[in-house]
Amino acid sequence: MKKMLLFAGIIALALCFSCKTSHNRDAVLLDSGWKFRTGDDPAWASASYSDAKWDTICPNKVWEEQGYKGYDGFAWYRYHAVIPSSMRLKAFIKDSIQILLGKIDDCDQVFLNGELIGENGRTVYTKREPPVDFFKEQGRWFIDRRYVLASNDPRIHWDKENLLAIRSFDQGGAGGMFGSPFEISMTDLQDHLKFDYTSSAFTFTGDSTITKKFTIQNLSSTEEFKGKLTIEAILSDNGINVYTENTGLDITPGLKFEKPVTFKKSMAAPAILKITFTESTSGKKVTSEMEIPYILTPKIPAKPRINGAKVFGVRPWSPFQYKVAASGSAPLVYSASDLPQGLVIDQFTGLITGSLKKKGDYLVKLKVTNKLGSDSRDFKIVVGDVFSLTPPLGWNSWNCWGLTVSDQKIRQSADAMKSSGLIDHGWSYINIDDGWEDTHDRDGNILPNAKFPNMKGLCNYVHSLGLKIGIYSSPGPKTCGGYEGSYTFEAKDAQNYASWGIDYLKYDWCSYWNIAPKATLDQMKNPYKEMKHAIRKANRDIHYSLCQYGMGDVWSWGAEVDANSWRTTGDIEDTWESLSTIGFSQGKCSPWSAPGRWNDPDMLVVGWVGWGPALHYTRLTSSEQYTHITLWSLLAAPLLIGCDLNQLDAFTLNLLTNDEVLAINQDPLGKQAVQVKKTSEYEIWARDLEDGSKAVGLFNKTDKPLNVPVDLKDLKVNGKPVMRDLWSQTDLGRVAVHFEMKTQPHGARLVKLAK
Ligand code: GAL
Repeated sequence: MKKMLLFAGIIALALCFSCKTSHNRDAVLLDSGWKFRTGDDPAWASASYSDAKWDTICPNKVWEEQGYKGYDGFAWYRYHAVIPSSMRLKAFIKDSIQILLGKIDDCDQVFLNGELIGENGRTVYTKREPPVDFFKEQGRWFIDRRYVLASNDPRIHWDKENLLAIRSFDQGGAGGMFGSPFEISMTDLQDHLKFDYTSSAFTFTGDSTITKKFTIQNLSSTEEFKGKLTIEAILSDNGINVYTENTGLDITPGLKFEKPVTFKKSMAAPAILKITFTESTSGKKVTSEMEIPYILTPKIPAKPRINGAKVFGVRPWSPFQYKVAASGSAPLVYSASDLPQGLVIDQFTGLITGSLKKKGDYLVKLKVTNKLGSDSRDFKIVVGDVFSLTPPLGWNSWNCWGLTVSDQKIRQSADAMKSSGLIDHGWSYINIDDGWEDTHDRDGNILPNAKFPNMKGLCNYVHSLGLKIGIYSSPGPKTCGGYEGSYTFEAKDAQNYASWGIDYLKYDWCSYWNIAPKATLDQMKNPYKEMKHAIRKANRDIHYSLCQYGMGDVWSWGAEVDANSWRTTGDIEDTWESLSTIGFSQGKCSPWSAPGRWNDPDMLVVGWVGWGPALHYTRLTSSEQYTHITLWSLLAAPLLIGCDLNQLDAFTLNLLTNDEVLAINQDPLGKQAVQVKKTSEYEIWARDLEDGSKAVGLFNKTDKPLNVPVDLKDLKVNGKPVMRDLWSQTDLGRVAVHFEMKTQPHGARLVKLAK
């Protein structure tokens, strides 16, 4: 069960909205007049059932906000609507009708006149019996509910009263329908012509040539569309059109094709790719816009530069492995003075290994040299009870490969972490998520499945590259993917992990619901304590990452179970809605973040993602991705890349290798940012840094460029601090009292203010 914590960003309105629609067409609006009751009875799908005594409810707010606080489980909504055939007669395209039901938390079955027409966001095209276990599917609260039926579908009763019944199931948290729109309407040109930008990344050649392929699909099974396709590239700052292409388009029913476009634009300038289809007989237009990525991080210098964390924690006796992160043209030669006894550095790889027996702080001077010069930097090793003194930087298999992860994919990802240069900026973990487990043998040892023939060999391989390796399990009998969990095998599992050389464990609640169906706070902690003791005995620093979606305000007790990080939310998706809802709701856990104890708002959704095996290029715009990395850095969040590292495009690599931005995430003070200001248009978050300066993030939540204003008094900054733009790595001089920065739609600016 995934608990959706806050819908604050999604649920815009506090009242049942009045009847109007955003589309320019006839529609039956379903904004008010809904009947509601909790419970479950198949008879409630029937048109002949009387709901006269049911409560009324607004569809745009979850039921917990309408008098059903704390109610989880089944509930039904019913609506009586006449669907006029005049709507069909007047429509430009007459073949399909759509029922839009906002969003539903978490699962739903929709019945029209007693027949099932939709389930969990998917239309049920032909009459069939309703499946019984729809409510067990992972929560679908973030999916728009749009059910499309053929106009001649016998389940529709034209010009008569129709009964729409929604059987919804809330797995926990909010519950039921919310968002918008709620209507029955004919589909129109924009519903049939789909533009998609996720089949390729933008590629950059030289300093200004950009290529992109996008797809156009005719979703209609009957209509052919003819007209003109206009492709434009428009600079966001001044509206100047830098590219226009006009071509004829004749797209038959069901056809999908890819269209390449090449144009010139300065890399750093924000711009929009605008595609317009003008239908020739009606003149109707469908427009779609996509931001063209802008590259901000300057080129990595050829001279040596030491990057990565300034502090590293280890427990006494635990195997020590730290790879000095440094960029510059190869070959680099590494050295370290004042290394404590017990540690050695490999001069060719920069890998520091060994072990330390005595608690204490050790100050080391790192040096990296190449033929162009050298760089040196102080580095503190802290031998104590807590490790992961800065948030982990790495990669996890889930957001790209899902359950199709394999030994080969892990090795390839580790290779790519090194060959792409990410390792030179401090990225160090390669984490296997769900999908590696088989069963426990007679002696209680967990056996990897056939996709992982040699776990120890795999761990050795990843370590040999200077990287660390992570694994995944559940305290329940089964993982969320249905694989074997650790329930009753905790001690043995931890021993096996340690003997293989595992450095990171993600421990995911999943089927523990079967053990503790209505878990109290203590019951929420217990399985995590169990594994804590098991890991402690393993005598190896294994980063302990809790995944239970924030239940029981885990941030307030994660440290108690020895966790190094804990997920604060349900699963992230590569949409602005998911990213912004999760990211901007993290203020509540700020006070609990500290070195070795990190709030985890879930993994990164940049690059090629897809939850396996088919991948798509992230649906986030480049500005949204700047927001992602900026906010997650300010939040001192673990940064776990979720994409295929073998397909890193120029933009993604640039986004993930800005050392000044990563330094904010890795700041040794370990203080998470707090929300300084929030309006409907923008937010400002700020984080105190170890050197006494402040990192400040400005976020534009609107879909237009915005000058975000900042008052120094809100930041509790006096005098005239020096300001540096961290994405472009440029000094902006001194500021006093107030400043403003232009911020792209859904984008961010990140600055550092120093005395
Ligand atoms: C989810 C978890 C995901 C992923 C998945 C694996 O519960 O939140 O991040 O680990 O399980 O099945």
